[in-house]
Amino acid sequence: MSPAPSAAIHPDVRRVLFDEGVLRARARELGRRITGDYAGRRLLVVGVLKGSLMFLSDLLREIGAEVDVHVDFIAVSSYSGAASTGTIRVLLDLRENPEGRDVLVVEDIVDTGLTLSSLTETLRARRPASLEVCTLLDKSVCRKVPFSPKYVGFEIPDEFVVGYGLDYDERYRQLPYVAILRTPNDGQ
Ligand code: XMP
Ligand code: MG
Repeated sequence: MSPAPSAAIHPDVRRVLFDEGVLRARARELGRRITGDYAGRRLLVVGVLKGSLMFLSDLLREIGAEVDVHVDFIAVSSYSGAASTGTIRVLLDLRENPEGRDVLVVEDIVDTGLTLSSLTETLRARRPASLEVCTLLDKSVCRKVPFSPKYVGFEIPDEFVVGYGLDYDERYRQLPYVAILRTPNDGQ
């Protein structure tokens, strides 16, 4: 039998930071914490498209039946112009009404914090009962505005990462691991 497609490391990858096993194990730990925190409650999980897609699907599998989970999606544009304004545009909005609900936003990565501080402000204006953020990756050294997600998969250094939903120019989302790309200076 030929190996699964995921067995080969992509030639553009310099280094794998988190492999499939590590990612699944961390999703399990976070899922258990979330299950404990929301047991007996109804939870609206909001996936931020597109980057959160793989993390969201792994995380959801680890949230126990004690939580009545509903899933929705939102897509936002990156902040444009002066980055310090941090204003995002909602490209695809929720279909569910978050008012009075316990809401958990699931994101791939928090970098400067501009996207999530703006997104959480937008969602807070719709008066959810509670609003928390779960991010797979946190580049907290890169913050331009204070932002502390409640649930964090992994803290990472200031490196651009791809895979497991994260892209470079829409590529590499399908890689089952999180990795740093080669740069032209890397050689072969
Ligand atoms: P901010 O700076 O607003 O950024 O916290 C959040 C968004 O920036 C993108 N981003 C990345 N995407 N690899 C990626 O594929 C990275 O290393 C990276 N750093 C930031 C991402 O879209 C995230 O939602
Ligand atoms: Mg993103």
